[in-house]
Amino acid sequence: MKHLISLRDWTAEEIKEVLNKALEIKKNQEKYYDVLKGKTLIMLFEKTSTRTRLSFETGMTQLGGHAIFLDKRTTQFMIAEFIDEIRATMRFGDILMHRPLKNKSLMEAEKVATIPIINALCEKYHPCQALSDALTMIEKSGGKVEDLKGKKIVWLGIGDNVSNTLVEVCTKLGAKITLCIAEKDPDSIDEELEEEARETGLYEETTDLNCLKDADFVHTDTWINMEFFDKDGKVVENFREELERRKKIFMPYQLSKALLEKYDCNAKIMHCMACHIDCEITRDAVDHPNSVIFDQAENRLHAQKAIMLFLLEKWKK
Ligand code: CP
Repeated sequence: MKHLISLRDWTAEEIKEVLNKALEIKKNQEKYYDVLKGKTLIMLFEKTSTRTRLSFETGMTQLGGHAIFLDKRTTQFMIAEFIDEIRATMRFGDILMHRPLKNKSLMEAEKVATIPIINALCEKYHPCQALSDALTMIEKSGGKVEDLKGKKIVWLGIGDNVSNTLVEVCTKLGAKITLCIAEKDPDSIDEELEEEARETGLYEETTDLNCLKDADFVHTDTWINMEFFDKDGKVVENFREELERRKKIFMPYQLSKALLEKYDCNAKIMHCMACHIDCEITRDAVDHPNSVIFDQAENRLHAQKAIMLFLLEKWKK
């Protein structure tokens, strides 16, 4: 049974197959309206979400199936052992999407899996995001998966779960990716992934912002992990000092109109969202003519559909 826990487990051919299908589904949505009729997606969230929930839930509706939202805080996952609850949960659906607090939960779920599992973001990877980001870059590069080959992608600020997964996709599709970062989120580091990426000759790390000059796409992401916030969206007491430290270190990498002008950069601007304005990105970058951030958000929908069809082996036209 195939899962989507990390794209390290997927071949370049599998990634290309899903991206080609996403492009096809997006152009011919009506052809797929009943492909997953009678199928149920269970979405288990241990962290908050806007785009991931919307894209999976809408995607399942548009494919003729049904999606069930489970929030850890309002289920028995709060009071029982994870392994028992997840085994029971899998008896009710055909496919499971899980946003865990830690990757370890996904590993445990995989060991007892009776249905395909999708990682909807953990501290190390965000494979659904990377696939839909590739979809957006492909569309903006000519519309064919091969068009991404040779493109130059710069990632600004902090190395994290999303950059890890983007590195994986870009190097497998023949695109060059440079992490122009001050630091990596310690929880996200995957040395084997980095080593494999380096061996392709397509991946590098730098602190030199001159790499922006000939970039085709520039991405950034939050410096502030979800764990930094309480249930009211306020930064929790014991992360405040760390947040201030990060703001100082990462500020030279803030994605802004001024930064792009300084380095004569005409790249398309990307951010997986949620944006933290005046931290990693400025309002004038989000609303910049080169910004494709909202197309990028919408493409989560088209990519999720292709991911679910691939894992459920439903390539019906
Ligand atoms: N990019 C992303 O995963 O968005 P959400 O956290 O809103 O789902």
